[in-house]
Amino acid sequence: PEFDLAIRGGTVVTAGDTVQADIGIRDGRIVAVADRVEGAAREIDAGGLLVLPGGIDSHVHIAQPSGPGIVMADDFASATRAAAAGGNTCVMPFALQPRGESLRATVDAYRAKADGQCLIDAAIHLIVSDPTDSVLGQELPALVADGYTSFKVFMTYDDLVLNDRELLEVFAVARREGARVMVHAEGYDTIRFLSEKLERAGETRPYGHALSRPQTVEREAAHRAISHAELIDVPIVIVHVSGNEAMEQIAWARARGLKIHAETCPQYLTLTAEDMKGIGDPDDMAGAKYVCSPPPRDAASQAAVWSGIQRGVFDVVSSDHCPFRYDDPQGKLNPRARTSFRWIPNGIPGIETRLPVLFSEGVSKGRISLNTFVSLTATNHAKLYGLYPRKGSIAPGFDADLALWDPNRRETIRQEILHHGSDYTPWEGFAVTGWPVMTISRGEIVAEEGRILGEPGRGRIVDRTVNPTERRAD
Ligand code: URP
Ligand code: ZN
Ligand code: ZN
Ligand code: ZN
Repeated sequence: PEFDLAIRGGTVVTAGDTVQADIGIRDGRIVAVADRVEGAAREIDAGGLLVLPGGIDSHVHIAQPSGPGIVMADDFASATRAAAAGGNTCVMPFALQPRGESLRATVDAYRAKADGQCLIDAAIHLIVSDPTDSVLGQELPALVADGYTSFKVFMTYDDLVLNDRELLEVFAVARREGARVMVHAEGYDTIRFLSEKLERAGETRPYGHALSRPQTVEREAAHRAISHAELIDVPIVIVHVSGNEAMEQIAWARARGLKIHAETCPQYLTLTAEDMKGIGDPDDMAGAKYVCSPPPRDAASQAAVWSGIQRGVFDVVSSDHCPFRYDDPQGKLNPRARTSFRWIPNGIPGIETRLPVLFSEGVSKGRISLNTFVSLTATNHAKLYGLYPRKGSIAPGFDADLALWDPNRRETIRQEILHHGSDYTPWEGFAVTGWPVMTISRGEIVAEEGRILGEPGRGRIVDRTVNPTERRAD
């Protein structure tokens, strides 16, 4: 047969088009998109279904060191299973450099954790926490050349925060090497000031987390990062934007002609700070399930972020999947968590629910088109982080990474149907319309109706290359 697999009779959606077409696949790649594809060893009937590029989630945390006594709830095996069940075919986690350690050693150890574990493909970003002369001068340039072409920097967190000088140094390396920098924009000193004040006032419960990181904290840091990016003349990505304040800084920067990219996440569209009050929990700690940074805000912020999505402020919607177990001494309810919100590990699980939540709230409720959904969940991730034209669309030459969606399927998100390693979902009981019923990774079915089908280890680590035109001298 000419094709290994044909997907017939579906509605094929890309960032630019919606067409009735068959797809022919050979050796894991798409080789034909046509009216009619004949002669395949195997056929899948996609009648009544949408055929979308598999989701690319360019911001997930997997098996990442999370401080003394705290353990992340997903390894590469469970995270990639959950991702696949949720309609994704590629995830991008972070190799986090602990201070005092070599970045190269960090990356090698992290890659070893992924070895033999992944169900779908993954591409690895770096987190730079210790930009020493050798990291800036040798390790980062060599790692970018080896395919690690993006790194995240933090403006908060004791173990990760970079000062302004360090941010500038890392931005300068990104400019020279043509790498992509992601910025966690929340101001360290302000958070410390507010946290200590809240603790003195006895406001130690999970909701204190939201009070310790108001939007001004995010806006100030976004502005500072943007100013540094302007000085160095390098594009940056402001990640997990939670509301209007940071969005205004991004719009201001773009009006000045600066290349500022932006990411938001489903939590900023569907959750609020009120969730951190854990209302109804006699133990007063259930709000910890929603503790992430920046914190979800309020209904007005949700509306602002939707409007930003509609106006093109956001390039990508990622999950920022950062899973901890709730009822676990190594998770949200660790021994210190009751003494103050500051000891609740930051982050929520979302790798499996990102796409259904955005599809339902976005496409099914008429806020965004299917094409915009594809841009925000696949195509733009691939373009931003060097996976395009290999991943992120449906056309000859692309990896056969696909998700078949039933746009009319009604489901209720519940922990018991999910595959992640966490023991809860922030979207428990959330009703959605539209569901990924089959996920295909490089031509192989890896998930169907919630069942996982591929072998762990079939997923590959994807090395990326920098477009030489992105490299610029000082
Ligand atoms: O609370 C969050 N988002 N934790 C994950 C780490 C990060 O800053 O993205
Ligand atoms: Zn972050
Ligand atoms: Zn952009
Ligand atoms: Zn994150």
